[in-house]
Order: sequence, then C-alpha cells, then structure tokens
Amino acid sequence: MRRLTVVGVRHEAQLREMLREPAQSLRRGGLVAFPTETVYGLGANAMEEEAVRRIFAAKERPRDNPLIVHIAQDDQLRDVIDENQPLQDDAVRLMRAFWPGPLTLLLPAGARLAPSVHPGQPLVGIRMPDHPVARALIAEAGVPVAAPSANRSGRPSPTAADDVEVDLGDRIDWLVDGGPCPIGVESTVLLLEPDCARILRPGGVTQEMIASVIDRPVLYAADAFDVAAAPLAPGMKYRHYAPDARVHVWWGEPQAIDEAMRAFLLEAAQDDDVMVPALIAPDDFVRRFGWALAEERQASLPADAYAEELARHLYRLLRAFDRAGATDVMVHGVDPAHGVGAAVMNRLHKASAGRVRWVG
Ligand code: TXA
Ligand code: MG
Repeated sequence: MRRLTVVGVRHEAQLREMLREPAQSLRRGGLVAFPTETVYGLGANAMEEEAVRRIFAAKERPRDNPLIVHIAQDDQLRDVIDENQPLQDDAVRLMRAFWPGPLTLLLPAGARLAPSVHPGQPLVGIRMPDHPVARALIAEAGVPVAAPSANRSGRPSPTAADDVEVDLGDRIDWLVDGGPCPIGVESTVLLLEPDCARILRPGGVTQEMIASVIDRPVLYAADAFDVAAAPLAPGMKYRHYAPDARVHVWWGEPQAIDEAMRAFLLEAAQDDDVMVPALIAPDDFVRRFGWALAEERQASLPADAYAEELARHLYRLLRAFDRAGATDVMVHGVDPAHGVGAAVMNRLHKASAGRVRWVG
C-alpha cells in the first residue's frame, strides 16, 4: 500500500495534481481508500466488475450487500443510472438541495455499472460527496467510484486514515490521508416510495432537512431503532459498527443516566468476570457526577454540541477503547428525534445489539 497525505490542501487544481497516481490506479482497477465528509471510503472503478469484486474480498464483505457509487459532477449521473427512466421530481429536488453532501439516493441502476455494485437490486445508491479530496480524486479518475466504508466488514467505520490502515493496509493499493472526517457517521440512505420517502439509514442529512424540500412524508425504516425488525436495506442485516467491547447506551435525564451507569458498574463488580469499563459522555455530565475512569477509557465531549461531537468521534473512540482493553463501553446517548441524533442512535443500536435504554 502507498500512503499519500493531502491534509489541509483544499485547492482543487493542486489536489488533482497531487492525486494523479491514486486516480490513475482507481481508473485502472486499483483499490484506493480516501476521505469523505462522512467516513473513509474504499474506492474502485464502478464500471469494472473485476475492480468492484476486489472491494468485497478486501473487506470480507457479504456479496449481497450493495455498494454506494460516488460521483463528482452532475453529468456523471448519466453513466450510473438508467437513462430510460425519467428522474422523479423529488429526486431532482433532493439532489439540488443536498448534493454535494451526505445523502445517498436509491435510483434505477444503469446497465453499464459493474453488476456487483448492486447485486440482485434494480436500484443503486448514488451520492456526490462534499469533501474536496473525494471530489478531486473522482474528477481526476474520470470514472464513477464505488465505495463502501473502508473498514473490515462488521467493524466501526474508519474516520481517520490510521484506522483504515489498521483494517485494510495490506489489501489496498493506495491510502489517501485527508485528516479526520468532519461528520463521522455514514450518509443518509433514502428510498423514494410511491407515497413516502423512507430513510433506510439515518445520516448527516436529517429527516427534518429532507421533509423541508419534498412534500411526501419522510419515514424511517422499521429497523432504524429496533434491532429485532427486519431490515429493508440489504446491508443492515449484518453485524455492524461493533467494536470488540460490549456497548451499553442510556439516554434521558442526566441524573437517571448517572444512576443507571453506576448501578451497572456495581452489578458487574459482583460478577466473577473482570470488567474494564469505558465511558463517553458530555463534559458537563462528567464534571457534575465526578466520573474519573482511566484517561484512555474516558471521553468527555463538549456538551454544547454533544450530538454532533458524538457523531464525529464515536467510531474513533470505540476503536481506541478496544486498544485500551475495555470490555464494556458505557455511552451517554442523545435524543434520536432531533438532527444527527437519529444517525448516532441508529449506529449505537446496531453497535450495542439493542442495549439502549431511556431513563428519566
Ligand atoms: O457515507 C457513506 O455512505 C460512506 C462513504 C464512504 O460514502 N459509504 C458507506 O457505504 O457507508 P457502505 O457500503 O458501508 O454502506 C452502504 C449501505 C448498504 O449497506 C445498504 O444498507 C445501503 O447502503 N444500500 C446501498 N445500495 C443499496 C440498494 N441498492 N438498496 C438498498 N440499500 C442500499
Ligand atoms: Mg459500512
């Protein structure tokens, strides 16, 4: 693997110049990991079946889990969607409002796409990422780029280049380091149904944002906050986002969250198995209730934008706590009814296998 650092470079022409070699590798069938505004992606030429198959092998990803295709300009849409089916007005409205950005639209797949991009599915997920490095790389490659998150299947997605290297360093051609990802959770995956828009995976573009530009109701898939429900998106049935440690989530009233966490620790202390706890919580909560676990197992995030901070740091912290030997990660959750809180709580549901409790 070759690693290229472009941290802090934002100028498009300069980025394209720096990214010439990885872009050429991409075009010719190589695997190139790159930053987006959500998480790092593992990219391959979406029009080349051989290249796309390498993604599944590198990630050890089940073959029926479809990939998202990334484009840099509107005119690339023609290469990836079915030209014989007119785009719905709402799809156009959503593209205008949220592209480039963390919204993946499921659209009728074009015939020239590599079949493995959307195995057995008439629709393909398309998004235009809002990250200067991703855009410059795709533009310079000159081909649409199929890219799942650049983690081994099942693990938390990588939000920094080092996390990609740990998971996939020996299996890819290039790693482009563009620094930490600003959003930190994956894009919203949206399906336009006849009478509604269905969020199959909540992400950076929220339910409120979508509802503000289209008239049909915007609903969540049944499994978004319920691990027992059958998933609509093929990929969501698999173990996801999970570190080695068990994850436990409480949200609601701070006092009640504190009590629930302490009760959990007390109960564990009575077991024979050794528990090594870790904590993620807002800084004011940590101060108010005097939490003081070992430094490498405690993260206190700014309380004034806690949901956004949790989104940005969650995967990195889950990985760091594994390295620190934590067996159980306690997370102070957020209200899933607001903004990016939906995306964070959805991931926490999956990562914790449903160990999410409201307390108040
Ligand atoms: O933010 C993101 O979306 C990141 C960055 C790299 O762009 N990518 C990402 O890809 O998260 P991935 O493969 O980890 O997740 C893609 C998920 C699939 O697991 C599936 O749930 C849904 O998107 N999806 C993709 N194509 C679909 C389709 N045709 N029908 C239903 N769901 C689909
Ligand atoms: Mg993924």
